[in-house]
Amino acid sequence: MSGELSPIDRAKFVAAKRAVDFVEDGMRVGLGTGSTAAWMVRCLGELVRDEGLKIRGIPTSTRTAELARQVGIEVTSLDEAKWLDLTIDGADEFDDELNLIKGGGGALLQEKIVATASDQMIVIADVAKQVSNLGAFPLPVEVIPFGWQTTKALVEETLVSLDVLGRETTLRMNGTSPFVTDEGNYIVDLHLNRISNARQMALVMNQIPGVVENGLFIDICDVVIIGHGDGKVEI
Ligand code: 5RP
Repeated sequence: MSGELSPIDRAKFVAAKRAVDFVEDGMRVGLGTGSTAAWMVRCLGELVRDEGLKIRGIPTSTRTAELARQVGIEVTSLDEAKWLDLTIDGADEFDDELNLIKGGGGALLQEKIVATASDQMIVIADVAKQVSNLGAFPLPVEVIPFGWQTTKALVEETLVSLDVLGRETTLRMNGTSPFVTDEGNYIVDLHLNRISNARQMALVMNQIPGVVENGLFIDICDVVIIGHGDGKVEI
């Protein structure tokens, strides 16, 4: 499955491969979104096919659901599963306290709901995602389309009162149209450079009318598995 990989893909693959060791028969497993999570879904598919692993997968996006079905994983909804044993997902950044920025792939809302409904969240990431301070990666904020420009302006106003270096905000685009999430919402990316108080930022953002959720995952992740380009894995 892994063939000849670039160092970055090898890093993602080895982290994903190690993470599936945590999956046991009968588990309800949250399946993350993104290129690293896609490796994990393929690795799980291999275990289902070749070793008869029996799990139910709860995908965090339509594209993950499609891939999971393709590789033979039984897919179910969160409402059906109700509670999950484990979620494995990627991240755009993680810090020493295992706080995350997620949503680079636009699936942060379902990802946060699924991870929060899990006994354990394991993040799989290449080493480049490790940071001492969150915020170099633009923080995705999911907003409802109704009045999105007003919501964006309110977000910008709120940033003035917070300790951040950058305050630029951009509507995420898909070509010439706004990017639309699985829930039918838009994403505003906040170019902050550095977030000194991620916990405060996460709480304050979610209080703005029109904001559905933000990409800061605080106290949700339990373990980060870090993959390196030479195939080394750290937990
Ligand atoms: C999607 C996410 C992804 O997990 C995050 O963007 C990392 O993606 P990749 O593994 O492709 O680098 O949060 O919403």
